[in-house]
Amino acid sequence: MNKVEVCFSPNLYPVYKRTDNIVVIIDVLRATSAICTAFYYGAEKIIPVATVEEALKYKQQGFLVGAERDAIKVDGFDFGNSPFDYMTDKIKGKSIVLTTTNGTQAIEAAKNAHKVVIGAFLNFTVLCDWLKKENKSVLLLCSGWKNRFNLEDTLFAGAVAEELSKHVNFPFLDDAALAAKFMYQTAKTNPHKYLRNSSHRKRLAALNLKKDIKYCLAFDKTNLLPILEKDCLVVR
Ligand code: MLT
Repeated sequence: MNKVEVCFSPNLYPVYKRTDNIVVIIDVLRATSAICTAFYYGAEKIIPVATVEEALKYKQQGFLVGAERDAIKVDGFDFGNSPFDYMTDKIKGKSIVLTTTNGTQAIEAAKNAHKVVIGAFLNFTVLCDWLKKENKSVLLLCSGWKNRFNLEDTLFAGAVAEELSKHVNFPFLDDAALAAKFMYQTAKTNPHKYLRNSSHRKRLAALNLKKDIKYCLAFDKTNLLPILEKDCLVVR
């Protein structure tokens, strides 16, 4: 029987680790939204790395590299973590390296799972359709903020849990998935209002990045599903 589980922090991942489930990495504000956008704008491959030092080594080899810490672009790199940074022809057909405060840490934590894919509101429908077709247990891994719970990733996990729970192949939601689903059901008529006092929304708003929030909360801007293959994200 397939399970849908939600893990609220990369630190908790070892508790949920299994050999046969699909892990969906979630960092809607903004890493997984930036990744979906980069593929939509023609990136060939994204190499997620955990540290700025690793990213720098790639930069020195001539790669295009995105690097963000605390929501700010790291000096000396090509891009930060705003999806708008990736809306450029510069990335067409290119391999991009990316390191972010939380999103790429979650990828690192789960990289040896059976299958790892990237989820955001921007690719919601293609993700859910693919999960239904795969017909395996699903772990929705929220990147959170520095291993703490966050509201926006949980909201997205709840949206996916709600959608999968309508399908006969996903009869079982764990308590975390149920909580996320109930939260999403409360929030979905006005997610912006629901997130108004959340920490990362406030952090991004203080950096004048409200347009990133609006873009990242939009459904189905792309029908591409990034999947991890041998340490690289690709779309098939
Ligand atoms: C992250 O990966 O840490 C986040 O996406 C932070 C951000 O908004 O840049």
